[in-house]
This record gives sequence, structure tokens and C-alpha cells, in this order.
Amino acid sequence: MPATVPRRETRAVVSFESIAADCFRIGVEYPHPSESVEPAQFFMLRRTDGEGPLLPRPFSLERLRDGVLSFLVKVFGRGSRALAAVRRGESLDLVGPLGHGFAPVRREEGVAMVAGGIGIAPFAHLIERALGAGVPAASMTLVFGSANAASLYALPLYESYGTRLVLATDDGSRGFRGNAVACYGAELQAGRLDPRTPVLACGPDRMLHAFARFARERGLAASLSVETFMACGIGICNGCSVPVEPARFGGWPYAKACREGPVLAAADLRGP
Ligand SMILES: Cc1cc2nc3c(=O)[nH]c(=O)nc-3n(C[C@H](O)[C@H](O)[C@H](O)COP(=O)(O)OP(=O)(O)OC[C@H]3O[C@@H](n4cnc5c(N)ncnc54)[C@H](O)[C@@H]3O)c2cc1C
Ligand code: FES
Repeated sequence: MPATVPRRETRAVVSFESIAADCFRIGVEYPHPSESVEPAQFFMLRRTDGEGPLLPRPFSLERLRDGVLSFLVKVFGRGSRALAAVRRGESLDLVGPLGHGFAPVRREEGVAMVAGGIGIAPFAHLIERALGAGVPAASMTLVFGSANAASLYALPLYESYGTRLVLATDDGSRGFRGNAVACYGAELQAGRLDPRTPVLACGPDRMLHAFARFARERGLAASLSVETFMACGIGICNGCSVPVEPARFGGWPYAKACREGPVLAAADLRGP
């Protein structure tokens, strides 16, 4: 399928589902059957009725099936709260697909995925594409960590894929006690994961910096998808800069997450 050129459009909301007290799934019509969206590419979403902030907010595509895009959204502030009040039959403004996503999973390599909290969102599309391309479910491991059992969002969907699923919670209420990066490290150390398997991560900033350090120190083939703040989503405002090394154009030690990311090589990310 050809890569899709980003476009701005207004589309009907066709489904809304509550996933947890602070998380919901929203489905939007997407009548472009011949176009593909890479896992971790994102759309800028905004209500059409003027409710909520003027600036749209970025959300990764969760799934693309039967002409419907779905997004898994955690409620943080004004923008996500405004989206939480949208219902079936109303419409949303969307711009996308934007950015560069994760490379396709190679059948002979499999993949390890490390997700923290709402960072789980892009992995449904990644797993579904890989399964569709004939990658065996058993060659994919998803390490999914969150604060507690209640915030392991959309778990039944991930259980349904048949991939290896390793859960972690900060409070120990489900699975490994600790965060997703520590859990991934424990899996490597126990020999249940091969360090040569490409590893992809998505989650909050702090987790991704910890993951990048971990991957750099061990020379792992690792990529990550950042969840920075974004204002424009299209490379104009510089609001999404993340520190990187080597420096980019003209010695500038930052990458624009919306244009050069959100997926970056873990080896390139710099920070605390
Ligand atoms: C490429 C990309 C993909 C994303 N995909 C998803 C997704 O699939 N699902 C999803 O729920 N979110 C996703 N996010 C994060 C989402 O864009 C933010 O949560 C959203 O913009 C918050 O907007 P708001 O108006 O609700 O909160 P704001 O009013 O902007 O912020 C409210 C409060 O929450 C804090 N906050 C805001 N965003 C975050 C964050 N990401 N992490 C920690 N604290 C935060 C702020 O510091 C502030 O205190 C993604 C971000 C990027 C860059
Ligand atoms: S969000 Fe404006 S440059 Fe990236």
C-alpha cells in the first residue's frame, strides 16, 4: 500500500467506548481503503464545535479496520476531556497521518515491545499489521507496564492476539512489581528474551529516557516513540523539540518529534 499523504478532514465519530475511569476509545470514519498508516504515526484531533482548546492534540492511531480509525485516549487535561465528551454521530477535525512510525516487524526477527501506560496505544496496529504479514504471534513479546492493574488499559484486546504478554505494575497489583523497563531487563536477564530481538518502546518521557539509557548501555537495536507536547504537529512551531545526539541540521541538538519522529532511535535520544 502507498504511504499516505497527511490531510485535514472532518469525520464522523462512529463509536465511543469507556475503557477505564480515565481512558476511552473513540472510533472515527476513515474512508481511504487503499492507504496505509504506519504504527505510531499520529493524528492531531480537535472537536469541530469549538468546545475544548483551539490547538488540536496528538494521538497515535490505535487500530485501522473496516474504514474506522480508533484512538485510545487517556484523560489528562482540557483537550482530552473535551474529546471524552464527544459521542457517536458528532464529528472531529483530524490532521494526519503525521510523522514517521515504527518499521515493519520482520518475520525472521520477531519483536519485543515495551509499553508504559497509555504508551500501549500504537502497539495494537503494530501487532495486527505484523500478524497480517505472517509474523508468528509467538515471536512477539509485549511487556506492558502501568501504575496499577486498573491502568493496564485495553488489556483484553492485547490478550486476544496470542503474543507473549508480560505485565508489570508499579504497585505490584498485577504481574512484575516495577516499571516496564525494569520488567524488560528482568526478562532479558532470565533469558526469556533475546537481546538481539529488535525492541520498540512507547510511554511517558521519564520511562523513555530510562529505556534509551538502558538500550544504549547494552547496544540494543531499539526504537522509541516519544509523547512530547505538540502545538502544530506539522513542523512549524518547534514546540515538540527533543534533545538528540548526533546533532541534526546545522549542529542543532534537537529533533522535531512531529517531523523527524515520533519514532527515534533510542541511541539518539539525550536527556536526564
Ligand atoms: C505522537 C504522540 C502520540 C500520542 N498518542 C497518544 C495516545 O494514543 N493516547 C493518549 O492518550 N495520549 C497520546 N499522546 C499524549 C497526548 O497528546 C496528551 O496527553 C494530550 O495532548 C494532553 O492534552 P490535554 O489538553 O488533555 O492536556 P493538557 O491540558 O495539555 O495537560 C494537562 C496536564 O497533563 C500533563 N500532561 C499532558 N500530556 C501529558 C503526557 N503525555 N504525559 C504526562 N503528562 C501530560 C500536563 O503537564 C498538564 O499538567 C500522544 C502524544 C504524542 C506526541
Ligand atoms: S509540533 Fe510544531 S514543530 Fe512539532
